[in-house]
Amino acid sequence: MHKLVVANYKMNGNVDFFRSVNVLNKLKVRDTKIVLCPPFLYLPFIKIKNKAISLGVQNLSETINHKSTGEISPIMVKEFKVKYAIIGHSERRAIGETDEMIANKVVNALNHDITPIICVGENNANEGLNVVKSQVKVVLKAIDKNKIDKSREIIFAYEPVWSIGTGKLPTVKDIDKAIKLIKTTAKTLNLKVLYGGSVSGDNYSELMPSMADGFLLGGVSLKLDEFKKIVLGVDK
Ligand code: PGA
Repeated sequence: MHKLVVANYKMNGNVDFFRSVNVLNKLKVRDTKIVLCPPFLYLPFIKIKNKAISLGVQNLSETINHKSTGEISPIMVKEFKVKYAIIGHSERRAIGETDEMIANKVVNALNHDITPIICVGENNANEGLNVVKSQVKVVLKAIDKNKIDKSREIIFAYEPVWSIGTGKLPTVKDIDKAIKLIKTTAKTLNLKVLYGGSVSGDNYSELMPSMADGFLLGGVSLKLDEFKKIVLGVDK
C-alpha cells in the first residue's frame, strides 16, 4: 500500500514561496503520494506536473449553501484540481470548530469527491486516548447516517496536540497504540492513518517503524530540502 506525505503549509508563504514549491515536481518517487495543502489563495500558483503529487486544502465549508459569506465549498476547490482536504486540524478546533462541524465537513468533502484528511489527537500527553476514540466515532456516525460508500478512501491523521510545533514526539509504541485504536474504531472504513506533530528531517526515520501510513507535516513543509529528504526517505 502506498505511503502518503502531506504538507500543511498553514497560514504561511506568499506567491514567491508557492511558485518555488514547483521544484517538487522533479521528485522521483516509486510508491509514495504527496499532497500539498497551501492556503486557498495560493492554489493557482502550484502547477502540478508529477503524477505522485496532488493538491489539498486546509479546510472546507460544511455546506454548499451560497449564503455562507467567507466560506469555500468543495465544488469551488475542485475547479483548482484539489483532491484532498485537511479537516478538523487542532488549530481549527481551538478556534471553535466542533466535532459536529467536522463531521459535516467530512460528509461534504466525500459527497463531492474530495478525500478528507481528518485530524484527531489528545491535548495533553497524559490524557489517554478516549478523546481520539470519540473524535473518530463522530465521523463514523456521520458517514453511516449519510450512507457514504464505505469503499471511499478516508484518511485520519493522528496528531497529538501537545506534539504540534513543540518538538516533542510520542514514542513509536504510543503512535501505534493510537493508530490501532483508530483502525479498530473505524474498522468498517477504507482507512489510512498518518502521524503528524513535530516530524523533521532529523527525526522522521525514528518514526518510520510505526504503523503510520505516512506523515502530515507542518513546519518542515516550508523547508523544501528537508521536505524532499522526508519524502525520499518514506519512499525507500
Ligand atoms: P508541525 O505541525 O509538523 O509543525 O508540528 C503538524 C501539523 O500541525 O499538522
